[in-house]
Amino acid sequence: MILRIFTLGTVLLLILGSNPAVWAGGGDDSVDLNRKTSPDLIQKGKPLFAHYCAHCHGLAGDGDGFNAEFLDKEPAELSGSKFQAKKTNHQIYKVISQGGASARKSHLMPVFGKTLSEAEIWALVAYVRDLGTDGSNPVFLPDGVNRDRPLDSSVSKEDLQSFNKWFEDEGGNESSIRAGEKLFRKKKSCIACHQLEDEDEKTGGRIGPDLSQAGVRYGPQWLYAWIMNPHAYKPKTKMPNMAVVSEEARVLSAFLSGLGSENKETPEDWKPLIETAGNSETGKKLFFDSEGKVYCSKCHRITGDGGTVGPDLSFVGTRRTPSFLLESILDPKAAITSGYSTVLILTKERKFITGVLKFEDDSGVNIVDKEGNDLVIPKNEIKKYKTQKISMMPENFKDLLEVQEIADILAYLTSLKLPEFSGGSAPE
Ligand code: HEC
Ligand code: HEC
Ligand code: HEC
Repeated sequence: MILRIFTLGTVLLLILGSNPAVWAGGGDDSVDLNRKTSPDLIQKGKPLFAHYCAHCHGLAGDGDGFNAEFLDKEPAELSGSKFQAKKTNHQIYKVISQGGASARKSHLMPVFGKTLSEAEIWALVAYVRDLGTDGSNPVFLPDGVNRDRPLDSSVSKEDLQSFNKWFEDEGGNESSIRAGEKLFRKKKSCIACHQLEDEDEKTGGRIGPDLSQAGVRYGPQWLYAWIMNPHAYKPKTKMPNMAVVSEEARVLSAFLSGLGSENKETPEDWKPLIETAGNSETGKKLFFDSEGKVYCSKCHRITGDGGTVGPDLSFVGTRRTPSFLLESILDPKAAITSGYSTVLILTKERKFITGVLKFEDDSGVNIVDKEGNDLVIPKNEIKKYKTQKISMMPENFKDLLEVQEIADILAYLTSLKLPEFSGGSAPE
């Protein structure tokens, strides 16, 4: 009896050991050589690749996405025969799921296993295999594969409060800041997507916003909460969940909170505005009043209510510093929110069209105009087009609004805290 169990175990071990595909059914050396990757699986991988990978690897996997030139390490040429021949499906799966550092590759290749489901990562493997065209490594969804995204809940109230306490005590320490900087530049993939300033020169990727002024633009609590779980606040964001633990998010927030503060002062004539006490109820009315002189909600949405020409302002009171909010209202072009740059298009029929750039590919340009209309302009109708350093947000609010009204709107915006802080027990 004992012997039989032993042999069975050995046989099993032999099967499992010699054919890793059996482990997860992911199909490295597929049993049936005639089986092919299902076109369906490849099709599922395609939009994921376009959304999460193409900015570095290029849509065709040639390693030439727009962000590639800002990286210290070239993104792998996934379509190349050398790459395709060297890697097993499981190795590709692992590096996508756990990031470059897990496979002794560059830390600039991000972690996606906390953003995408197992099934989605297999679909990406299938898509990556399809980029190399020889079809010799078919990819199959393992049995029982998890199809749910690993959605973490957003940070809890207790967690944020203990962050506050930590930040007060240790956020300004040199050692916290240095630890955060090291994670940002050397351990995690942050620098692959975000710019920082190094002695008058910007370094880093351009997929996400430039963070060289993060300390004056973002509140520390927001930095912490966002870094812990970006999808809790913006489900479709291209920023992957970076799989950081609480201690790491703390020091990252400390590092970023220290950036930019010295070189930026609030202009003298804005000081009265910050000092005037505002009424957030009145501010809210002004914000949503469709008959009023500003009608901010025509372009801005707050927890589901309002337009989409401008950025969503839910939680903006935690997300942004008061001086940044004030600047956004009085001088919108001073800092254009990433993802909201304005383009000016001259068509072959000599028509000018301007709007916020949403999407661009080889076939055309998708913009949203001031009225909120979605326009798709095919490339072959475009004569010229350029990005402009102007905002779609009106420039004249400082003339339209009384000091008190600006203070009211500011009071309303600063009251829009993370839900963890609603209920009155917010620190500060
Ligand atoms: C911010 C840029 C960036 C993004 C986004 C990115 N990658 Fe990468 N990727 C890299 C870099 C850089 C390397 C090269 C790492 C090295 O060779 O050390 C790499 C390497 C790889 C490799 C090869 C690893 C190996 O074993 O040689 C695979 C596979 C890969 N990426 C897949 C993906 C997929 C799939 C996505 C999207 C889900 C993606 N990458 C998103 C930058 C990126
Ligand atoms: C693959 C690219 C990528 C990587 C890697 C990445 N980010 Fe981001 N990040 C983005 C994008 C894109 C946005 C813009 C979010 C949006 O509006 O959808 C963003 C936004 C941010 C913001 C601003 C949030 C806001 O409210 O505007 C911060 C802060 C940030 N990232 C920090 C980090 C840190 C810290 C890391 C490393 C632990 C990191 N990011 C890694 C792409 C990335
Ligand atoms: C015609 C559309 C439009 C109207 C009306 C408008 N905005 Fe904006 N707003 C935008 C756009 C587009 C952006 C992003 C570009 C930029 O940063 O200037 C923006 C950016 C902002 C930002 C910065 C958001 C961030 O986190 O980066 C704030 C704050 C803001 N607007 C507040 C307001 C307020 C308050 C009003 C009303 C007094 C208002 N807006 C009216 C279009 C509009």
